[in-house]
Amino acid sequence: MTRAPLTTYFKLCTEFYDLEHHRGKAEASFYMNYALQAQGPILEPMCGTGRFLLPMLAAGCDIEGFDASPHMLNALRKKYAPNKAPVWQQFLQDFTSSKRYNLIFIPYGSFGLILNPNDVQKSLATLYHHLAPGGKLVLDIETINSVPHPCGIWRRGINTRADGSVIAINTLTSYDEEAQLFTSLCRYESIENGTLVALEEEDFRQYLYRFDEMDRLLKQFNFTSIIKYQDYAKNLPTNEQAPLLIYECVK
Ligand SMILES: C[S@@+](CC[C@H](N)C(=O)[O-])C[C@H]1O[C@@H](n2cnc3c(N)ncnc32)[C@H](O)[C@@H]1O
Repeated sequence: MTRAPLTTYFKLCTEFYDLEHHRGKAEASFYMNYALQAQGPILEPMCGTGRFLLPMLAAGCDIEGFDASPHMLNALRKKYAPNKAPVWQQFLQDFTSSKRYNLIFIPYGSFGLILNPNDVQKSLATLYHHLAPGGKLVLDIETINSVPHPCGIWRRGINTRADGSVIAINTLTSYDEEAQLFTSLCRYESIENGTLVALEEEDFRQYLYRFDEMDRLLKQFNFTSIIKYQDYAKNLPTNEQAPLLIYECVK
């Protein structure tokens, strides 16, 4: 089946993404610890520009990954030995391989970018199927408590490139409570010497999960254990208000 290309993660978005500071050290060491303990093949679907995958390769892990965005993959490849990065272009919902992995992980709420319920179902089945016995799936999702308030106003963020030129993002967010759909109209600007030289627009959409929703989806599979944490220190949720939930599932 031929899928329509992504309508997000284009060129300026990719550049901004790589300049941005993300969730920080706790998140990085959380995933690195899983990778160092995996003792076998690791897969990172939706690997983006290699924020996790490249340091894990450098640490000697047997890791490969894929992503649907050619721009994100190009950025990743530029940071690694030419034509050698173990990554390819692929939609998660279409992935199939004879290989089985000791660890599959999807950080940063990326799984919520899969919006269609059939695709969500298919993707979870694919993830389970490609785990080796005893293998771990680690998946983080953003919840309905992660919506930034207020919505409906423009926000602007700026990053500066090494050459001093600027890349800016303007976002107008909205949230459809019934559909649990967070939307952000994003306009990226590339500015050199005070002049706008490129503009890019994207329609970012992310499904936000209710507190127990992913539990129910994961329980359809024969995982031997499913634990959910509310942060990278592995604290268990004490109420249903966590904006982020991290699932560790063992096959
Ligand atoms: C928020 S970025 C996260 C990248 C990386 N995991 C990180 O944490 O830096 C989400 C990534 O998911 C990719 N993506 C979105 N939908 C996808 C899909 N259905 N299959 C594979 N990749 C997808 C995007 O191209 C993007 O690179």
